[in-house]
Amino acid sequence: MAETKSLAVVGGGQMGSGIAQLGAMHGLHVWLLDTDSAALSRATKSISSSLQRFVSKGQLSQAARTEALKRLKCTSNIEDLRSADFVVEAIVESEDVKKKLFIELDKITKSSAILASNTSSISITRLATATSRPRQVIGMHFMNPPPVMKLVEIIRGADTSDETYHATKALAERFRKTVICSQDYSGFIVNRILMPMINEAFITLYTGVATKEDIDTGMKLGTNHPMGPLELADFIGLDVCLSIMRVLHTGLGDSKYAPCPLLVQYVDAGRVGRKCGIGVYDYR
Ligand code: CAA
Ligand code: NAD
Repeated sequence: MAETKSLAVVGGGQMGSGIAQLGAMHGLHVWLLDTDSAALSRATKSISSSLQRFVSKGQLSQAARTEALKRLKCTSNIEDLRSADFVVEAIVESEDVKKKLFIELDKITKSSAILASNTSSISITRLATATSRPRQVIGMHFMNPPPVMKLVEIIRGADTSDETYHATKALAERFRKTVICSQDYSGFIVNRILMPMINEAFITLYTGVATKEDIDTGMKLGTNHPMGPLELADFIGLDVCLSIMRVLHTGLGDSKYAPCPLLVQYVDAGRVGRKCGIGVYDYR
């Protein structure tokens, strides 16, 4: 199994920027690609300040921070990903959009490259069918924020090879993450359990059982969650939460996964959470 030396991350939003940071911190040469140049500017700022937090806590030297930043390059040109050993896709949670990207990545990257998706819920088996190398397609699901959260969930598609699985696990372990492995069914392990809880918190709010503050305080102080479910939904992005609920609903075929109408309405109104300044809460 060849060691991964260069990483490409596609999508420079909250997840892609954090994954690119992990690569650069752990000695890989990293290309971070986004079609939106403003997203790349935001990503560079957030990576720089996140690395500084590790320096302030004595977990990273200033020299290592500088070296990590030197290893990271941003681009909007997919041709720059030609030499990557390992690609992690972290673009919008849409099967159609991801498949189009996988078709392009399959054409451009070297034939030995592994194509991983950070999808929260979408079938890896189906994404793999967009490529000529389904044995080298895998789910590598980081948690938000990737530099801090200790878990990576690995999802093998129907055709993912053992070699691809072992290379992905080795990369996650190089990032000092604990790995869990899921079968390829909608939502995998974490979101199959987390998203219905978040959706239920919206239903609790929608049906007037309690205020948003009491729902969040209940789960924070009552069950020791670091964030309440509505606060967490704003942190993840309500658009991402809704996309995941729709995948669970369609993929598992049970009405218990129907997205709460209030969640749908917030997304329709563009209230997608912290990233736009307003979601369940107003951050402006
Ligand atoms: N980079 C570096 N360090 C960071 C950071 C970042 N981006 N964000 C937070 N930190 C560090 C802080 O420096 C701090 O470190 P110390 O405790 O050593 O001082 C620590 O993390 C806590 O940060 P803060 O004090 O600033 O804030 P906080 O206590 O509110 O913690 C949090 C922030 C880590 C995000 C915490 O609130 C938390 O764990 N929330 C829940 C997150 C969660 O559940 N994530 C999973 C979402 S589901 C998912 O990701 C899957 C999906 O597909 C949707
Ligand atoms: P985000 O909206 O913050 O970022 C997505 C980025 O992808 C944007 O900057 C956008 O410009 C870029 N993009 C869209 N289409 C592109 C394309 N074709 N080529 C290049 N760049 C493109 O989203 P996010 O929250 O970082 O989520 C990204 C992925 O990670 C999704 O699949 C999501 O389900 C998954 N995920 C999200 C979280 C979370 O908490 N937000 C956690 C784990 C996994």
